[in-house]
Amino acid sequence: MSTIEKALAKQKLAQQEKITNITEHEVENEAIVSKTTSTSVPETSEPVNNKESCNKDKIILNGDRLNERGFIYSPDSAHHIQEEFRHIKRKLLNNAFGLASKTLHNSNLIMVTSSHPNEGKTYIAINLALSIALEQDKTVLLIDADVLRPSLHRELEFDSKKGLLEYLLAEVTSLSDIIYSTNIENLKLIPAGKPHHLTNELLASERMESLAKELAERYPDRIVIFDCPPILGVTETPVLSDLVGQALIVVEESKTKTDDVKTAVSQLNNDIAIGLVMNKTIRSKKDIYGYYGYGYGRKNQ
Ligand SMILES: Nc1ncnc2c1ncn2[C@@H]1O[C@H](COP(=O)(O)OP(=O)(O)OP(=O)(O)O)[C@@H](O)[C@H]1O
Ligand SMILES: [Mg+2]
Repeated sequence: MSTIEKALAKQKLAQQEKITNITEHEVENEAIVSKTTSTSVPETSEPVNNKESCNKDKIILNGDRLNERGFIYSPDSAHHIQEEFRHIKRKLLNNAFGLASKTLHNSNLIMVTSSHPNEGKTYIAINLALSIALEQDKTVLLIDADVLRPSLHRELEFDSKKGLLEYLLAEVTSLSDIIYSTNIENLKLIPAGKPHHLTNELLASERMESLAKELAERYPDRIVIFDCPPILGVTETPVLSDLVGQALIVVEESKTKTDDVKTAVSQLNNDIAIGLVMNKTIRSKKDIYGYYGYGYGRKNQ
């Protein structure tokens, strides 16, 4: 049995034992994920001192524009998008702060990745961050860790700023200098920063490791989401999985090959919680984009 199948089997068992409450919605999503994973070729917390310490340069997000472009911004955002993300984030938050957090290292650090480029990582990472920041009493820090193809600033429409790369290059010494507040109280951002010739290599650096450690120690009550590069062909992405407690893998409906998902998952750290999100992309009309499915499991269990 493959790791993904084992994860799904374990999830099913947990459901039977009533460890989790089954809702109609979850059953529906489980079916979606099973379909993807079994088809061989589908063609296709606040800082310790309780004071926020942020860069003074605040990022102002335009809610109307975000809504227009398919992102969750307010209670008026398309209902089904909010519902889908409620389902996804509930599992992630349980893993981050519930019972499972005791067995996960850095359970509140979540990487969003995929097998290949362009499967919707940034779209999912942003919507997940917005969904948690708007609806939960939790602060979310969203980091553009896709330093070779940064797109957070483009998607959220703010000017590119000093960010992760400047920190990794030690051009900026204090983490608080690259954390930006936004006009959403619970949402903070770290942009990718200015590209550098060692861009991807820096993700596997010791400084990146200490950044993850600092984030986990200084902000244990906060959800930290890393929008990462894809897994296949980018050796640094699996290295990043050693720094986080959870990974969300975006699978593009009718496009991502099951074997690629399996290969990608096999490259990640064995000890983290892994969730799959099925993303169906209709680029021309983001407000009617289909659905997401979500499956969760620990590898090798
Ligand atoms: N569910 C969705 N509905 C509508 N559009 C989507 C959806 N998911 C992604 N997109 C669009 O598809 C394109 C690719 O998505 P995105 O940039 O999030 O992918 P990515 O995996 O982050 O790509 P990259 O590998 O380049 O970082 C973007 O134009 C995005 O707005
Ligand atoms: Mg991206």
